[in-house]
Amino acid sequence: MKTWTKEERYRVLRDPEEIRPLHERICRSDWRQTYHIQSVTGLLNDPNGFVYHDGLWHLFYQWCPWGAVHGLKYWYHTISNDLVTWKNLGVCIKPDTLYDNKGAYSGSALPTDDSLYLYYTGNHRDENWVRKSYTLLVDLKDRETPTKLPPLYGPHPDYTEHQRDPKIIYNKEKGKYYIILGAQTKEKHGCVLIYASDSPTQDWHFAGELKVPGFEAFGDMWECPSIEKISGYDVLLFCPQHLTLPGRGGTVHHNGYLLGQMDWDSLTFTPDNTQFHVLDFGFDSYAAECAANPEDQNKATLVAWMGLPDAAYPTDEEDWSGCLTLPRELRVRDRRLIQQPLEDLRALRGRSVDLEATDLLPRVCELELISRGGDLSIHLLAKSDGSGGLSIRYDDAAREITVDRSGLTHRFNVDQGEQRTRPLPKGLFHLRIFLDRSSVEIFVNDGDAVFSSRIFPVAGEERLRLEGDASVRVWHLKPAVEDDFVV
Ligand code: FRU
Repeated sequence: MKTWTKEERYRVLRDPEEIRPLHERICRSDWRQTYHIQSVTGLLNDPNGFVYHDGLWHLFYQWCPWGAVHGLKYWYHTISNDLVTWKNLGVCIKPDTLYDNKGAYSGSALPTDDSLYLYYTGNHRDENWVRKSYTLLVDLKDRETPTKLPPLYGPHPDYTEHQRDPKIIYNKEKGKYYIILGAQTKEKHGCVLIYASDSPTQDWHFAGELKVPGFEAFGDMWECPSIEKISGYDVLLFCPQHLTLPGRGGTVHHNGYLLGQMDWDSLTFTPDNTQFHVLDFGFDSYAAECAANPEDQNKATLVAWMGLPDAAYPTDEEDWSGCLTLPRELRVRDRRLIQQPLEDLRALRGRSVDLEATDLLPRVCELELISRGGDLSIHLLAKSDGSGGLSIRYDDAAREITVDRSGLTHRFNVDQGEQRTRPLPKGLFHLRIFLDRSSVEIFVNDGDAVFSSRIFPVAGEERLRLEGDASVRVWHLKPAVEDDFVV
């Protein structure tokens, strides 16, 4: 594995031509995605500033141009009018001031009548490499010209250096703006800090630390927090770090949520119960971001990084890593979030595969499976003798579903476990599975659970094998992202 010097990781991109050859090489990779957002080169991590504005969906992401390494981060901008096909617009926020000299870190967006405000963390380090985080604001008037406004505030002295990922929230009833930040107390507990103002651009003051009864010691840092209102519920989403959870193998970074009630007067989020719900049961999902649905407040749309901090992927050797999940529609059902593929995704369906005639799976496809009951075992990308592949097993007696990627030739992050299990108390009746060239997303029982994972198949891993009683349909899927060089 390549080792990076600090100079290499934090090198400033002065001219796009510096990375054109890298892009040309990466484009030839067999694992480049065809309908998932991925970076032109280097590393993609968190989605940022996901919002509907001026007739378009805007989605930005964290990008480090040089390789599969967390170094100097930029905000890269993509747009869409249907959340299915995406166009690259290039870099939006550059880390080019003293306040963000070591990275334009994650954040969120606020659409107003005449502007799009982007709130982000300026990751500043001094000559002794001491970190200070600033909450910074960009005014993006016309999509093309980001104007940096004066810093909103700097680090809070009562917390450690880990303070980042501003999520802007407008509270209509109070006519007030809030920014919530992920942070770490000096006792090394994850928490959320709240800032408030009457104006989106100035006069911000510290309002206090969010109280979350029952979750005072739950991981040592909370990244990317947000509070959303979905179907009348308040939802606190966040990424607690450095803790293990049942059924999650050796992974110590999680993305999940609490359902409850947010009281902005007492700055308290009261969870309905003590249950921290995992957002995605697959291997690779983190830093999810929600966008409000402009037409229907009962829904929101969620997208996440299909990756994890401190994980390595086979494409690291090719100098790129990371992609985003498909955007999903979020709703609340039976007091939990359900996530479903967007209706418009069906437009990507092409020819269907005649499974009577072949067991060869297209490299890029969607599968829909309806179970007639009992145990089920599906092997995707199995070898020609039927062995190996990615297994999805439903055990009817135990009422649980397991996804196992240990059967694929390329095994990675093995120390974090190669199986993920989720109970299905009501049984398994429906699966929708989206395969791209290096990922799989499995939607279980109409969005009751989702498993998102990177997988890196090699030649000969291409068969479908099914054991159990179910009907299956498979469609080729058309591409929805272009691997064009826009920087
Ligand atoms: C989460 C995260 C954020 C930070 C960003 C830097 O993956 O660590 O907390 O802002 O990534 O790229």
